[in-house]
Amino acid sequence: MDDRMFSEIRDMLDQGIAIKETREQVNQGFRDVADAFNFFPNASKVSPDFQYTHDLMFRTMATLVPPAPSVLDLGAGTGRLSKLVLGRFPQSQVTLVDISEKLLKEAARQLEEIGAEFRTVAGDLFANDDVQLEADSFDCVVSSYALCHGRIESEYEGLYARIRNWIKPGGCFLCLDHVHGSKAELTMLGFEDWAELLRRNFPEDRVEPILKNSLIEDSPLDIPHHLSLLSKVGFESVDVLWKKGLFALYGGFGKTVESPDVNHKATRDARPEPSQSLYPDKSKGCRTQ
Ligand SMILES: C[S@@+](CC[C@H](N)C(=O)[O-])C[C@H]1O[C@@H](n2cnc3c(N)ncnc32)[C@H](O)[C@@H]1O
Repeated sequence: MDDRMFSEIRDMLDQGIAIKETREQVNQGFRDVADAFNFFPNASKVSPDFQYTHDLMFRTMATLVPPAPSVLDLGAGTGRLSKLVLGRFPQSQVTLVDISEKLLKEAARQLEEIGAEFRTVAGDLFANDDVQLEADSFDCVVSSYALCHGRIESEYEGLYARIRNWIKPGGCFLCLDHVHGSKAELTMLGFEDWAELLRRNFPEDRVEPILKNSLIEDSPLDIPHHLSLLSKVGFESVDVLWKKGLFALYGGFGKTVESPDVNHKATRDARPEPSQSLYPDKSKGCRTQ
């Protein structure tokens, strides 16, 4: 990435929400998508380790969910991820949620063609009561490249609390998505790597608009924030399974039986004080400041 592009992207990053589309603009953009048939054809060119990360998601599911799982796909679009789930778990029942009825209609057309067991639900994932699903009903909630459209931390927290409510007690949530670094400098390193990947896969004049558009349309959190919100709403354990630059596969596994607030306190109380660290020498050695 040359100096001009670097400083323009850094400037946009620093402006944060001031330059972002509003919630309604993002939603309307997806509702109005021009060509549902040809939606998101470049997914594999935009995201690093595309095959590996999907395979890791499905291998994780295979170890945690029953062979005929009920699966919820959030921000499913035209069902690209749902179809992969069905390929790997042919007996799964899939529920696809998306803001765009047009995309869901195309997803339904494609899923009917392959005789899949599915249903579609249209609604805004980030609005409190828009998407109504049964509590304790999914073995696994998956999502790819959609949740980065949350705009602010409270939208993510609300959605994560609803996901916790929708999964069965031993269920899991797996999200493959665009994330930011926990400091602007780290995010910029990610942007430099992303520019390299895009340059290998797209003509030169497409690279900059893709990078800049992500700063206008997406509001990804960093991984520490995602994991702490998932813990806060009452997932039993949380983890990042893979991360490369601005992309990650992370999730929450199982849910606590107590209400999230009670449990959150219990989890916090059970954590060792710094002086009681399980690995005192190691944690000292890892400190950077
Ligand atoms: C980049 S596409 C990814 C589609 C699909 N998950 C995939 O991997 O191919 C993002 C999807 O998120 C959906 N989306 C964006 N904001 C949403 C919202 N607030 N509620 C529900 N779906 C949303 C869009 O309509 C779109 O289908």
